[in-house]
Amino acid sequence: MSPNTPRWLGHFRFTEPPFDKSIDDDALWMPSSRQHVVDQLVEAVQERQHVLLTGEPGIGKTCVLRAVRHCLQQGFRLTYCHNATLGRRDFYRQLCLAIGLSPKATAAAVFYAVSTHVQELAREQVHPVFLLDEAHLLHQDVLDHLHIVTNYEWDRAPLLSLVLVGLPDLRDRLQLRRNRSFWTRLHVRLALADALPEDTVEYVQYRLKRAGGDVDLFSSDALAMLHEASDGHLRSIDRLATMALKAAARRKLKRVDRELVQHVAAEGGR
Ligand SMILES: Nc1ncnc2c1ncn2[C@@H]1O[C@H](COP(=O)(O)OP(=O)(O)OP(=O)(O)O)[C@@H](O)[C@H]1O
Ligand SMILES: [Mg+2]
Repeated sequence: MSPNTPRWLGHFRFTEPPFDKSIDDDALWMPSSRQHVVDQLVEAVQERQHVLLTGEPGIGKTCVLRAVRHCLQQGFRLTYCHNATLGRRDFYRQLCLAIGLSPKATAAAVFYAVSTHVQELAREQVHPVFLLDEAHLLHQDVLDHLHIVTNYEWDRAPLLSLVLVGLPDLRDRLQLRRNRSFWTRLHVRLALADALPEDTVEYVQYRLKRAGGDVDLFSSDALAMLHEASDGHLRSIDRLATMALKAAARRKLKRVDRELVQHVAAEGGR
């Protein structure tokens, strides 16, 4: 371990920070419930459909996209976009850049360029997939036009798959009368559920093990408290578990108990 390694990692003999967000795509925690969401998403894209994926903040939606990317290697051109706050013009500019076209001046020129390009890709047997993260932030005028992007159906199947990912509010918004045309084009609508108490246990132990630590570092009471304090949202679990481990190391404790988790949850908020 290098001299710059934080002391708490050395205290628990971790080889890396256990709850770091830079986990590799192929090392993601995939219980069967989550794998099922990934499988449905992959299948939908293979069938050239459009997809909606919603879930609470920090629950693991972007990581699901990373797992999907890992599965869709050949025959797909994936473009990931997480700047959904753009106005319509800039949004189409970005769509152009994303699929490798020079941006066009007018919306009509963009539609023409994009449609020609996706047909070329189809001839090359490459299916473009536009992954639009944080889609709850989309401006209404972009949403109003999204059905045009999803309307390349001359070949009976769409030539471009759109995957919209966002908070549960996105689903509510898309169900409004104004967005009904687009809503009906989203063939597959998936929701990522909060982790159950047993999922939190499995997740924490999985990540401890991957970092070379003892899987029983948290007592079962501590894990129950961690679940309660995080609402089963993985990013909150990461944050609280890291705070608890650091606090335990400062106190030279070998394990984390319920009181310690309660203490960091009260100190660091939810
Ligand atoms: N399958 C997973 N395996 C391992 N860690 C995960 C997994 N899913 C989520 N995490 C952890 O939880 C954190 C939050 O996940 P992610 O960024 O995917 O959530 P999100 O639902 O996209 O959040 P937001 O709504 O804020 O965009 C990640 O940084 C990672 O540490
Ligand atoms: Mg995200």
